[in-house]
Amino acid sequence: MKFAIAFVAVSFFGVSNLAFANANEAGVMVSNGCVNCHGEEGRGAAVGNIPPLKGRSKEFLVTAMEGYRKGTLHGTVMNRVMKDFDDQKIDVLATYFSSVK
Ligand code: HEC
Repeated sequence: MKFAIAFVAVSFFGVSNLAFANANEAGVMVSNGCVNCHGEEGRGAAVGNIPPLKGRSKEFLVTAMEGYRKGTLHGTVMNRVMKDFDDQKIDVLATYFSSVK
């Protein structure tokens, strides 16, 4: 099953991203829900003003996600999105989105 998901992720992003597929495999999978709002690979939404995530510093992304989770940062939806995320998932996501060029 895990292999099947990885295969779909790799074929979806195509051959040019194969080099990144292993290092970022986890990030791609965990980020599935995020891209619905933040755009493909976190490039920013086509409509609305949802901020892009790609290429932002890892430090910024971790701080923002932790802030939403702890409630020190107030958003319209992100507090709910981050509620069930643990440190490890936040780290994986921040590593992934900060690495997208
Ligand atoms: C339902 C839509 C939606 C989903 C799903 C979503 N986001 Fe967001 N995100 C937003 C909006 C809207 C904002 C602006 C703050 C707010 O209003 O909550 C935001 C803000 C952010 C910010 C701060 C960016 C900045 O420039 O301040 C980060 C980081 C972030 N989201 C990460 C994520 C990650 C990682 C996921 C997936 C686990 C995710 N978001 C899923 C809508 C979404």
